[in-house]
Amino acid sequence: MRRQSLGRSTRSVCLVLACLSLALHLLLAFLCLSVLQTACVLPPSSSSSSSSSPSSFSIPGTDAQHRQSVSHSSSSLSAFSSHKLPTGAQNGEHHTEDANMQHHKGKAFLSDVTEKENDLIGAKMVYKVVQKGKGHSKLEALFNHPLYNLPRPELQEDDWLLRVKGDEDDSDTENEEEEREEEDREESATNDREWRSASEEDGYDKAAWTSDSETHPPWLRFHLGISRWELYDRKDPNLAEVTHYLATQRILNVVQKTGGTQLKLLMSFPNYGQALLKPMRQSRDAETDVNLFYFSDFERHNAEIAAFHLDRLLGFNRIPPVVGRLINMSTEIKEITTDRRLSRTFFTSPVGNMCFYGQCEYYCSTEHPVCGRPHVLEVSLATMLPDLSLAPRRSWRSPWRRSYSRTKQAQWEKDPAYCDTVKQTPPYNQGSRLVDVIDMAILDFLMSNMDRHHYETFEKFGNETFLLHLDNGRAFGRHSRDEPSILAPLRQCCRIRRSTLLRLQLLSHPDFRLSDVMRESLARDPLKRVAPLLSEPHLSALDRRLATVLQVVRDCQDHHDDIIYNDLEAGAS
Ligand SMILES: *[C@@H]1O[C@H](CO)[C@@H](O)[C@H](O)[C@H]1NC(C)=O
Ligand SMILES: *[C@@H]1O[C@H](CO)[C@@H](O)[C@H](O)[C@H]1NC(C)=O
Repeated sequence: MRRQSLGRSTRSVCLVLACLSLALHLLLAFLCLSVLQTACVLPPSSSSSSSSSPSSFSIPGTDAQHRQSVSHSSSSLSAFSSHKLPTGAQNGEHHTEDANMQHHKGKAFLSDVTEKENDLIGAKMVYKVVQKGKGHSKLEALFNHPLYNLPRPELQEDDWLLRVKGDEDDSDTENEEEEREEEDREESATNDREWRSASEEDGYDKAAWTSDSETHPPWLRFHLGISRWELYDRKDPNLAEVTHYLATQRILNVVQKTGGTQLKLLMSFPNYGQALLKPMRQSRDAETDVNLFYFSDFERHNAEIAAFHLDRLLGFNRIPPVVGRLINMSTEIKEITTDRRLSRTFFTSPVGNMCFYGQCEYYCSTEHPVCGRPHVLEVSLATMLPDLSLAPRRSWRSPWRRSYSRTKQAQWEKDPAYCDTVKQTPPYNQGSRLVDVIDMAILDFLMSNMDRHHYETFEKFGNETFLLHLDNGRAFGRHSRDEPSILAPLRQCCRIRRSTLLRLQLLSHPDFRLSDVMRESLARDPLKRVAPLLSEPHLSALDRRLATVLQVVRDCQDHHDDIIYNDLEAGAS
């Protein structure tokens, strides 16, 4: 019995144990299944995707995207690492946790990409940046701004300096210049035969100019575009032709230009155009000696070029186009000049460079030679204005002229109320003459030109016309110092054209910034490939001086009314 009962209890224990073990197994199996569901079922699918061709991904949506962004970011990263361009690196940023990505990244950093590919990518990146830069040209944005596209006053017949008379209107006899231009042209047409034979000898082009502007050389079109209110229309496509012509045409003859104190040459071109040449005399970055008086400073060729660009950026359009050029002193001056006083001054320097010094009041001696390297010389070429016999000019003494003496002071330097006198003196007592002089002072202060003793106007236009800003060779001499006295007209008179003030404010805005648009504008000059026309310190001096001008205007506003000369309202000119 005992054995039986023992056997029964053992059996029941075994049953319980068996049940327990079954339950445990079941639980294990369930747990295992749930784990396998996630961990052990997927491997076959992933292996199938890796073995299949890339075009048939099992999960194309996400995986393909990852791959694309990975390859993109690897290329931009390699560009980033080799060219230090911060743009483009964010492309794959939101997938950084992806193990796949890390792998590709590592590959890129291990420079799986060859040098050549790197260069290509780099070139692409740079191209993109340049493209972006092009799309965001500050210069273009500036010139597209309404302040640079103000409606021009409607021009009457006598608002043009020169006109080509149409065949139909013979009644107009008021205009002497016109007549002379016409006579000139007729002479060239009637004497055509004689002219032609002569011109073939001289190397001049055959001229067959008619009243059709298509037949006119660029310099003549420039002359015919001069109006009462500006020297040129910034948007006239002919301007680029004028400068291109000066920069590339064969030079036929060179003579010294008389008048003025420093060396200047007059170049002639085959189409009867002429240009005023100023040579490079000192290195571009040489700052003017602080102990030199403004009237004994060297003239700088790059200052002539930069002044033209600055005047245009200020919206004045009062300086004739100036362009840089490299010339061969042997073949383009010495061998062709008919000026014996000039050719006599040529010599070869101890290191074998060709030099000359010409004849003039200042710096025309063996001690101050103009030298090439060994023949090549940097020069500025300025477009000539119409001949004085066709378009006579009047020279005006600037009311703020310096004393041009080492010891004397001018009246305006001693008398703070000097402007009150000027304001009552014709022609400053009416029209825009006073604010025009102030415009000129602002231009001169920005480029630190102290040498503006006179200014000129075209006689034909009387007192109501723009002022020519000629002769800017003594500008841009120092970048480390500003010359506050140049701003005396603005500070003493507290008057400014509304359009000028608004443009200055625009140019102080980071979207346009004077130094940036100036750099961009100067980069269009051919001499840019030799070296920048203005060094960075000169460019940043422009921003600093612009801030000073605006501060002077604000100071005026604190103490005066009637500061703004409103030239933007219709009928106010
Ligand atoms: C300049 O002209 C001289 C003389 O004809 C010539 O020897 C020299 O090579 C020329 N230089 C350049 C850069 O054209
Ligand atoms: C122009 O200004 C001068 C002063 O320099 C004056 O004598 C002349 O009368 C003015 N001309 C006109 C037309 O107002």
